[in-house]
Amino acid sequence: MVISLIGFMGCGKSSVGKALAGLLSCRLTDLDTYIEEKYGRTIPEIFSSDGEKAFREMEKTALSEILDTTGDGTTVISTGGGTAATGECAGLLKKNTMCIYLKAGIDTLVHNLENDCGSRPMLHRDSSKDNDTEALRQRILELMELRESAYCNTAEAIIMVDGKSFMETASEIRSLVEKGTAK
Ligand code: S3P
Repeated sequence: MVISLIGFMGCGKSSVGKALAGLLSCRLTDLDTYIEEKYGRTIPEIFSSDGEKAFREMEKTALSEILDTTGDGTTVISTGGGTAATGECAGLLKKNTMCIYLKAGIDTLVHNLENDCGSRPMLHRDSSKDNDTEALRQRILELMELRESAYCNTAEAIIMVDGKSFMETASEIRSLVEKGTAK
């Protein structure tokens, strides 16, 4: 079984993925880390030298490779915030994984991303702006509007993460898996 975690940047996919893989004693693959290792560059380097379109191609290739090699047993895949928002990756996740959307409210996302935008090219901001937080909030809302329906359509379960620890969220996912609520 492959469990994939999707959701906006800063919702906790990587950290919840680690906690969940620990609870299930299973393999964990972080898609962004896989891409960085495969292409020998960081995500910001890929964006700045090749652009977003090229990154999305790499993301699709990487996801296909990961899904082709999961083998027996359980694997948790934490995706990037844009993975499920691109048609082909969404299709791969829907078809081959139990896909869980970690849904965070705008305040949680702003709080989690405020000091952590450097490695996230999709949140490009002009750091000289006085109203940095407001600019970040607007950027998140703008991207979320484009992505929310894709997240909901791709996932078979949605978990609200506001106010929960990574471990609490991971435990909820484990319950879903054990109850067989999701595929
Ligand atoms: C992206 C999210 C990032 C990373 C890349 C693009 C996005 O992953 O894949 O910078 O389009 O939302 P995180 O969600 O782990 O930050």
